[in-house]
Amino acid sequence: MRILGIDIGGSALKGAPVDTRTGRLLAERHRVEIESPCPPAQAAAAAREIARHFRWRGPVGIGFPGVMQRGRVKFLGNLGQEWVGVNAEKLFARATGCGVTVINDADAAGLAEMRFGAGRGHRGSVLLLTAGTGIGSALFHDGRLFPNTEFGHVPVRGRSGEKFFAAAVKTRRHLTWKQWAGGFGGYVRLLERLLWPELIIIGGGVSAKSGKWFKYLRLRTRVVPAKLHNEAGIVGAALAGSGGRR
Ligand code: BGC
Repeated sequence: MRILGIDIGGSALKGAPVDTRTGRLLAERHRVEIESPCPPAQAAAAAREIARHFRWRGPVGIGFPGVMQRGRVKFLGNLGQEWVGVNAEKLFARATGCGVTVINDADAAGLAEMRFGAGRGHRGSVLLLTAGTGIGSALFHDGRLFPNTEFGHVPVRGRSGEKFFAAAVKTRRHLTWKQWAGGFGGYVRLLERLLWPELIIIGGGVSAKSGKWFKYLRLRTRVVPAKLHNEAGIVGAALAGSGGRR
């Protein structure tokens, strides 16, 4: 099945048509910059531009950086509080003229990794964390997703953990890999103690550089980098758009 997958990130929407049987992108990704925070109308216009770019008429799946329930935004970390209560599926369906499914962005990345990447064929419990502007999470048991976990918001010193440990903090504070991985690893250890996953997959931009920092993680659980890197969000969104949420 061919589905247009779109990933909404902190600074841009990125999309490409995906073959959901193979997990392959069928064309080069198209990227449209957005402001931060990004008002709903601007994100809708960006999604329309992506659909037009591919002259798209079929189903669309979108990964959104917040809690999504029955098409509506319930909570979000970084995109702007204007979004809370918005029916994102309706908004993007009107903008693109296509049938749209919206799920959490980390859940989307998790679906892609479980189907085509580092979690493929893995039974038992798997925790995927994405480290980018925020920290996203996706939790699986025997391949089934428990949606909308928000483990980036476990409180640390009264604030969401992602405010201290997301990958964006490394850039903002000019941390070395060792310094950043020390803090991030401590946070993952906390989650490990609460969830006892059997495999941890780390995604997001920093996963492509795992050689530089995985050595500083001190975890009891096996930890592996994501395989689809920055394509996971698009591929997983497309899977959700095809009805393949598990
Ligand atoms: C949001 C999550 C999202 C993560 C990664 C967090 O701030 O609350 O829903 O998955 O960022 O984008």
